[in-house]
Amino acid sequence: MENDIARVLVTNEELKSRIAELGAEITRDYAGKELLVLGILKGAVLFMADLVREIRLPLTFDFLAVSSYGASTSSSGVVRILKDVERSVEGVHILIAEDIVDTGLTLKYLKENLYRRHPESVKVVTLLDKPGRRKVEVVPDYNGFVIPDEFVVGFGLDFGEKYRNLPYVAVLKPSAYEV
Ligand code: PRP
Ligand code: MN
Ligand code: MG
Repeated sequence: MENDIARVLVTNEELKSRIAELGAEITRDYAGKELLVLGILKGAVLFMADLVREIRLPLTFDFLAVSSYGASTSSSGVVRILKDVERSVEGVHILIAEDIVDTGLTLKYLKENLYRRHPESVKVVTLLDKPGRRKVEVVPDYNGFVIPDEFVVGFGLDFGEKYRNLPYVAVLKPSAYEV
């Protein structure tokens, strides 16, 4: 698996320290509020697990599963909810947790969908932002790292469901794409 890596883009140490900073910022911003952290399966799981431990507030979390990419490296633009939130989000401060904002299509759809349920607020925290690929305007409220327009894997991000467990964010060798 590590043989498939061309280069590491964000190290584990950089990830951990940036996630701690994001947690501190979110802790300040949501003090005294009822916070629901909503992780988008599956990519956001590793980031979210680390992030919630850096948010020093009482909170709840839940997960949404959506599908847009499949095994492809480019977005089809089609978003489907495969698993929804378990409770009503009316009056709740929702913080969507994502691993990456790429075209923005997933987030645009989710924000619109969630707003229709009358939450108190909807904000977005993403570990990675790739603004060079945006197709629709979505600006994350909190972002870990801005990255260039390269396909990345690791720390939750996959290629064909593989590489999610890498403890860093990396660029694959071209040979890794050949199945
Ligand atoms: C990826 C990524 C984001 C989304 C970003 O998820 O985890 O959720 O695509 O792309 P966009 O900004 O172009 O919409 P994917 O659909 O690959 O599912 P996964 O999280 O299960 O890997
Ligand atoms: Mn995802
Ligand atoms: Mg994926």
